Amino acid sequence: MKIPAVKGFRDVLPDESIRWAVLEERARTVFHRYNFREVRIPIVERTELFQRSIGETTDIVEKEMYTFTDKDGTQLTLRPEGTASVVRAYVEHALAQRERVSKWYYFGPMFRRERPQKGRLRQFSQIGAEVLGRDDAAADAEMLFLLYDLLAAFAVDGAEVQLNSLGCQACRPGYREALVHWGRAHFTELCDDCRRRLDQNPLRLLDCKQPGCLAIRDSAPRMLDHLCAECGAHFARVRELLRREGMQPTINPYMVRGLDYYCRTAFEVVARGLGAQNALGGGGRYDGLVRALGGPDVAGVGFALGVERLVMVLGERALDVDIRPEVVLLPVGDEGEAVAVELAHRWRAGGVRVEVESAGRSLKSQMRQADKHGTRFAIIVGEEELAGRALTIRDMEARRDHPRALGLDLTADGLRAALARLGA
Ligand code: HAM
Repeated sequence: MKIPAVKGFRDVLPDESIRWAVLEERARTVFHRYNFREVRIPIVERTELFQRSIGETTDIVEKEMYTFTDKDGTQLTLRPEGTASVVRAYVEHALAQRERVSKWYYFGPMFRRERPQKGRLRQFSQIGAEVLGRDDAAADAEMLFLLYDLLAAFAVDGAEVQLNSLGCQACRPGYREALVHWGRAHFTELCDDCRRRLDQNPLRLLDCKQPGCLAIRDSAPRMLDHLCAECGAHFARVRELLRREGMQPTINPYMVRGLDYYCRTAFEVVARGLGAQNALGGGGRYDGLVRALGGPDVAGVGFALGVERLVMVLGERALDVDIRPEVVLLPVGDEGEAVAVELAHRWRAGGVRVEVESAGRSLKSQMRQADKHGTRFAIIVGEEELAGRALTIRDMEARRDHPRALGLDLTADGLRAALARLGA
């Protein structure tokens, strides 16, 4: 009996995974331009880390975490996101005492037990970046520049960056009150979830997708109208720095993000054509988080992009790198096999991508296989060829043999020169 993969967990087969590799490589290049360095964080953490950072009343912590009890009784959780782990590592290794600013990036799988649908999985992968130690608006602007540069490096077009401010401890409580007041006045129009959210997490009322709640949303008070002077100035400065560089994200006063640690700047990238799960990425500022996780009073700002969704919007576009073998060896007979193995070993050491077919198969079936690799050049290594001390290179595309194309120089450079003569 076959054993299928778990619902919401999927394989990334080679035709797709090469696209992931290209995305990661391009991301690394951009991150390094911004002086970010990679951090590798564990996949499993103590459950309380996420409870305390993401927030007890968020969907993630309330119902989406993969949590289990370890044999020693510890409650563990498969990480649903990366920020909490990054901050935990930052605090644990006392980075604040070692460097004034830490700029880190990460790649890796995250786990949320959501209802699977197009663009929504239970295991998905993120490309993330976090800056710890900067509370100024220029740091937020730099994160947004980084985000735009990543999208450009991936050749994502038509994505929209949305921006909002979520205020701070000084101004949010007042706003919260205004929102609850509004919610109570519209209680009968709210969905069941929002009625419950009204007490626990009223900000979430703003991104409810239920038609009834959406219909009245425009009349809700906006955080942007309730910002304190500092938050207002911070937001204006972020926008000013972006505007000077020709970037004008859309202001979305109803974007609140699904994690509780945010303050001030919050942003999301949304793509067209992805359906309901159209957020390619999101992030924002989280100034209280390091402290909440037992560290010093250090500010933070970051974002994460979803790799599966990026790959979806990119489709077939401009991501492929050529990893096909440059040459395929077709051995005939025992001696042919021995020589082919030796040549392949030598050429690979010289940096050439080489495939060797199996000598046990007919030449015709080897040729068919060589065609499947999409390789242009095949070399038959048989008794006759060896006796003649010159190998025939077959141009699979032109369907043409070039007898004696490869002579005495059987080094990788010799091979390269021969292939170049044939127009490789
Ligand atoms: P998030 O908005 O929860 O933020 O997730 C970021 C991105 O991960 C989403 O925009 C989406 O592309 C992808 N994603 C989330 N859930 C799923 C899913 N179930 N299936 C497929 N893709 C998904 C965070 O995780 C924050 N830690 C970002 C951040 C970093 N904020 C500050 N620093």
